[in-house]
Amino acid sequence: MICLKDNVSIITGAGSGIGKETALVFGKLGAKVVCADLKDADATANEIKAQGGMAFGITMDVSKWADWQRLVEKTHAEFGKVDALCGVAGISEATNIVDLTEEQFDRMMNVNVKGVYFGMKAVIPDMLEKKAGKIVNVASLAAHCGLQGLPSYSASKGAVIAMSRQVAMDYAKHNIQVNVISPGIIETPILKNNSPEMTKAFTAATPANRLGQPYEIANFIAFLCSNLSDFTTGQAILVDGGWSQQ
Ligand SMILES: NC(=O)c1ccc[n+]([C@@H]2O[C@H](COP(=O)([O-])OP(=O)(O)OC[C@H]3O[C@@H](n4cnc5c(N)ncnc54)[C@H](O)[C@@H]3O)[C@@H](O)[C@H]2O)c1
Repeated sequence: MICLKDNVSIITGAGSGIGKETALVFGKLGAKVVCADLKDADATANEIKAQGGMAFGITMDVSKWADWQRLVEKTHAEFGKVDALCGVAGISEATNIVDLTEEQFDRMMNVNVKGVYFGMKAVIPDMLEKKAGKIVNVASLAAHCGLQGLPSYSASKGAVIAMSRQVAMDYAKHNIQVNVISPGIIETPILKNNSPEMTKAFTAATPANRLGQPYEIANFIAFLCSNLSDFTTGQAILVDGGWSQQ
């Protein structure tokens, strides 16, 4: 059974969608949850506390190093350590490469790639001291399969997979496991950035013939942050209703 009792877990993107669901699942499994988001994540933390769990919300931008330093300091002050990092925060934008502006490209890389880089850089020193740690970053089906209209998004998620795999190799002998979950199409607010036609086509193209639900990703992340997965590292696991295997 998955148990995260007293596991101090930082979850980015905890204000919405997959990150929010992950925070709630971690709370139910006994983790002490740090709910981080660009927007207010206090509502998520309050929901965990209302269910008898321990959590706090913190507003931060994953692409800003100073925000990560503040986040780790506050986590230490409140909970004394860091056991797990779930890098869920991300942005998505659909456009072809000709219309893609440099500003859009840079923003995508700053949030989706630099945010993951800063996250791992911020928590690994703590994990090295304890000789244990779990990191799960969220990429996307778009990093594995050709879709349409997502050149910068797919590039950013490909970078998340490649970087996480390298970091996994560097720290495997220190008992720090680093894995990636690549969701297929999951019903969350991020889909508002896609046209309705695109979402409809994505649903029809999924062998399961439905959109995935945030809990279906959150529970997998919980497994990867539990000691049941101690021999799993460097993996990018697709949770996509079968899309990638067609
Ligand atoms: N929903 C899907 O179909 C799907 C598919 C594949 C991958 N993903 C990935 O899953 C992750 C979560 O997406 P979601 O669907 O829950 O989207 P969402 O928009 O519901 O949630 C994303 C959260 O990230 C936060 N965020 C954005 N930029 C941030 C920043 N700079 N700093 C801190 N927080 C920031 C947002 O405020 C938001 O709360 C993303 O990385 C996304 O790319 C989603």
